[in-house]
Amino acid sequence: MSTDSQPGTVYLVGAGPGDPSLLTLRAADLLRTCDVILPDDLVSDEILDLASPTANIIPVGKRCGQPRITQAGIHALMLEHATQGSSVLRLKSGDPLIFGRAGEEMAFLRQHHIPFEIVPGITSAFAAAAALQTPLTDRTSASKLILATAHHAAGKLALPSWQGAFPDESTLVLYMPGRDFTTLATDLIASGIPAHTPCVAVSKATTPDQFVTSTTLQHLGTATIGPAPVLLLIGHAIQPAPQLPIPKTS
Ligand SMILES: C[S@@+](CC[C@H](N)C(=O)[O-])C[C@H]1O[C@@H](n2cnc3c(N)ncnc32)[C@H](O)[C@@H]1O
Repeated sequence: MSTDSQPGTVYLVGAGPGDPSLLTLRAADLLRTCDVILPDDLVSDEILDLASPTANIIPVGKRCGQPRITQAGIHALMLEHATQGSSVLRLKSGDPLIFGRAGEEMAFLRQHHIPFEIVPGITSAFAAAAALQTPLTDRTSASKLILATAHHAAGKLALPSWQGAFPDESTLVLYMPGRDFTTLATDLIASGIPAHTPCVAVSKATTPDQFVTSTTLQHLGTATIGPAPVLLLIGHAIQPAPQLPIPKTS
């Protein structure tokens, strides 16, 4: 904690996909040294075990149980602790700048003149591809990589409109796909992605519970998909290794 009246720094940090060995050195260092830690619900216990025993860990996952915390509540916690001079680790899964509302948090911190720093993490798309031993791009079949989400902010369309969204020769990685895979596949096929396109769902990538479903878009709705968090990788470049390595258990 700082000793003068200067606010503490807020660190917006990516925790990677779950495996602690995929943390950056900078993230591990901040875990050991920050006074207050505000982790999202996808940040694993193994990662939080690396925190200082004196750290004040306040889970702020919006699905982490009761009571649900709002984005405004997270902002208020960052402000409260930084204003008291504490260093604050705002720990997000994957990379903090991908589907993590970091834009809103940075705007809030700027508005309140709180110093902050961004530390990138391994986004789940890259971790899932590595776990599958598949490339995301390919010289002959995928010259574009699209990171998209099926989840929209309140007030926007309930289902995203995919029409015309996907150029040929692309790999599409879909974050937060929801659980209605039948409707999703129908929409994606209607948007122009051929029904026979390979599609892999990776549940809990890089954790001991990782579950991989390899199918095609037309069969996605009837496939068995593991529990959240799930990532969908769609495209001809996606070729999971036939014999995937057994996930680590320690
Ligand atoms: C709110 S977004 C956060 C994304 C994160 N910032 C990133 O870069 O991976 C949460 C979504 O990320 C994906 N995700 C995160 N961790 C994952 C994992 N270990 N395995 C599979 N998908 C994951 C899922 O699609 C999940 O619904």
